Amino acid sequence: MATKIQIAIDGPAGSGKSTIAKIIASKFNYIYVDTGAMYRAVTLFAKLNQIAFEDEDRIAELVSTIALTFVPADPVQRVILDGRDVTSDIRSEEITNNVSLVSSYAKVREEMTERQRQMSENASVVMDGRDIGTTVLPKAQIKIFLVASVDERARRRFKENQAKGMSTSLDDLKQEIIARDYKDSHRLISPLKKASDAIEIDTSHLSIDQVVEKISQIIKTRA
Ligand code: CDP
Ligand code: CDP
Repeated sequence: MATKIQIAIDGPAGSGKSTIAKIIASKFNYIYVDTGAMYRAVTLFAKLNQIAFEDEDRIAELVSTIALTFVPADPVQRVILDGRDVTSDIRSEEITNNVSLVSSYAKVREEMTERQRQMSENASVVMDGRDIGTTVLPKAQIKIFLVASVDERARRRFKENQAKGMSTSLDDLKQEIIARDYKDSHRLISPLKKASDAIEIDTSHLSIDQVVEKISQIIKTRA
C-alpha cells in the first residue's frame, strides 16, 4: 500500500490556508480536514446550549460529547454538529469573535487534537489550522506556513464578505484579524507558531494558482 501522507498547512486568518488546502487535497486525492471549523463548531455548540463562551468548566465538561462530522460536498464540505448542518452558522461574526477564547481552553484543545489525529490515521490528509505542524501532526512529511500582510488579509475577507452581502468595514475586519492573530499567537497551549521545519510562503502577492503550484512542487519532491 502507498505510504500515507500528512500535509500540515498553518498560518494566520486570511493567509489562504483553507482555499489552498482544499485544492491540494482534491488535486492529490487526499482528505481535507478543516480544524478551524472544528473549533468554530465547539464555539457554536456553547452558544446553542446557552453556555457562556467564558464558562471554561462547562465547555470542558461537555466537549467530549459533541458529535461533529464533515460531509464531503461541492463547493464546500458540510459541517454537521449534533445532527444539524452548521456550515454557515459557524462563520458568523459572533462565532468568529469568540472562537479564539473557546479554542484556548486546554480540554477543548486536547479533545480536538485527539480527533484530528484519528482522522489522519487511515488516510492521507491535508490539514489546515494553527498548530498542525507543531502539535497535531509533528511528524507530517510536509509542513507549510502561509503568511500575508494584514492589509492584504483584511482586503481578502472584505471581498469575501461583500460577495455574501455582509457589510463589516475594511477597518473593522482588519482590527478583528489583528485581535485574533494576537490571541491565537499568545495563548499558552499550542499557539499559532511556525514549526521549525515548516516552509514559509508569503502569499501577499501570489495568486491562488501560484501558491498551489509552489506547494505541488514541494509535494512532488518530498512525498
Ligand atoms: O478561516 P479563519 O482563518 O478565519 O479561521 P479558522 O481557520 O476557521 O479558525 C478559527 C479559529 O479557530 C482561529 O482563529 C483559532 O482561534 C482557532 N483554531 C485553533 O486554535 N487551532 C487550529 N488548529 C485551528 C483553528
Ligand atoms: O483559511 P484562511 O483564513 O487562511 O484563508 P482563506 O479563507 O483560504 O482565504 C481568504 C480569501 O483569500 C479567500 O477568499 C481566497 O480566495 C483569497 N485568497 C487570495 O485571494 N489569494 C491567495 N493567494 C489565497 C487566498
